Amino acid sequence: MNKSLFLSTALLLSSLFTSAQTPRNQLTPRPPMGWMTWNLFQGNINEQLIRETADAMVEGGFRDAGYEYIFIDDLWQGGRDRQNNIIPDPEKFPNGMKALADYVHSKGLKLGIYSDAAQLTCGGWTASLGFEEQDARTFASWGIDYLKYDYCNAPEDSATARHRYRTMANALQNSGRDIVLGICEWGQRQCEEWCEEVGGQLWRTSYDVRDMWKDIVKEGGMGIIDIVNVTAPLAKYVRPGQWPDMDMLVVGLNGTGGPSSDLGGVGCTQTEYQTQMSMWCMMASPLAMTNDLRKVSEDDRRILLNPEIIAINQDVLGKAAERKVMNDNYQIFVRPLADGSHAVALLNTSEKPLTLTADFAVLGISGKYTVRDVWQHKDVARNASKWKGHVMPHETRVFVVKK
Ligand code: GAL
Repeated sequence: MNKSLFLSTALLLSSLFTSAQTPRNQLTPRPPMGWMTWNLFQGNINEQLIRETADAMVEGGFRDAGYEYIFIDDLWQGGRDRQNNIIPDPEKFPNGMKALADYVHSKGLKLGIYSDAAQLTCGGWTASLGFEEQDARTFASWGIDYLKYDYCNAPEDSATARHRYRTMANALQNSGRDIVLGICEWGQRQCEEWCEEVGGQLWRTSYDVRDMWKDIVKEGGMGIIDIVNVTAPLAKYVRPGQWPDMDMLVVGLNGTGGPSSDLGGVGCTQTEYQTQMSMWCMMASPLAMTNDLRKVSEDDRRILLNPEIIAINQDVLGKAAERKVMNDNYQIFVRPLADGSHAVALLNTSEKPLTLTADFAVLGISGKYTVRDVWQHKDVARNASKWKGHVMPHETRVFVVKK
């Protein structure tokens, strides 16, 4: 090979090598798990909070349970510098985002950030429209691993939304770093149909979750059961790399959250929080806690760290539970798992205790099975073709049904 051919081949190979990134549809083989600033801390965020949360994620056993990302939501921005580079608020993040990302990475965690497909974010701060390439490069240079990309202050129509999300996904792809794109248009433009095509990995299914069971004040807030109901029909769109983002877990907020306490968000019972964890796992939603990880009660830890329910969420088959039964009092869901077993959830939506039966053959799982209760952590039946038992108001019983 002559010298110039050798050089150009080497150059080509090295550019191919350095620009080699994970294909976008392989960025999130399982639903991302982590912690997000918004629902409790809103704009009261700074680098100390992020560092302390990273420490708490490790020390509290959350990282080892699978929670990996720290997502910084809106109100981190400090505008743009003279070269139009987006910058963090210098009072909140005096040492800059790169140093913070380095710290988070040193703990074996990943860092997410937030922007919006318009000129201003939902909170009215600097957003990325027209600066997609530049912002994506900036995020990559800081070591950002995930971008939640919101849709406030942007036109209603779906074509514009697709175009704006595609532009950002391309910019992230050109940034030289693997950065996941979480699409946050609140399920208003059937995002589940086009998320993958434009380069996104997850799609919000609803408006913001409020810390409540149900929107009884009719102010448009989304409670736990409201989000289950809007997400259930979307199960067929769920597959590895395409996840239904049901918004943050409100477990542990108890009515003390910032935005999650609006619109009737008075707080939930532990039974209802356990139902949220159960259903977010059954439906393969990303799991983004938003409580104060520096002080978590034992009962919240029991819910958030249950390895058996997390295993259902993270199952590599990547299917969401299908709703097999729905009536005024209860719902039954079935999720197929990679090892051939099934997760079955019985959700009492009524205000009274119910005795419910899951007849496996009727649910499409004929045969005799061992039935494991994933909240009681024990096998409750062997060689069984059904499960019958009590389900308390707003409770979800979850079982793994296996040969
Ligand atoms: C909303 C979004 C919330 C939060 C907020 C920040 O549009 O749904 O999750 O990100 O903006 O302003």
